[in-house]
Amino acid sequence: MKKQITTDYEVLTPSELTPAEQQLVDLASRATFRSYAPYSNFRVGAAIRLSDGAIVTGANQENVAYPSGTCAERTACFYAHAEHPDARFEAIAIAARGTDGQPLADPISPCGACRQSLMQYEVLAGSPVEVLLVGRDTIYRLPSIRSLLPFAFTSL
Ligand code: THU
Repeated sequence: MKKQITTDYEVLTPSELTPAEQQLVDLASRATFRSYAPYSNFRVGAAIRLSDGAIVTGANQENVAYPSGTCAERTACFYAHAEHPDARFEAIAIAARGTDGQPLADPISPCGACRQSLMQYEVLAGSPVEVLLVGRDTIYRLPSIRSLLPFAFTSL
């Protein structure tokens, strides 16, 4: 038997986003300026909207011992749940600026470890967390974290 997993996503221009999505994208883009990336010079920002109305942002934080650094998505999701343990995640936007300091032309996509980390909070929320992957003129909108992580490991 042959089976297939597919991922649906929408390709949008910024003006096609809702005002709430535009705000999240804007906050993720602004968070790139708070990245600490002296080694890669690749600056990533993430913004998470929570069910209590808060928006939490994060940026990648690098370390001289490279593996000790953390991506923007994990900075944001761990902080969000540490500070708002009773709130559900509703949406996340992720943006980046390349080594030339300019916003990436194409949307950025989170690394595997961040997908797994974010998945935890989607399961906890009990409903899909919308994902906005931000490029300079193009935004990918995905319906859930799960859509980024087929065959996710979600229970022991
Ligand atoms: N990085 C993120 O923060 N998020 C991603 O989705 C991909 C990569 C960071 C990790 C590291 O500080 C730098 O970007 C280069 O990999």
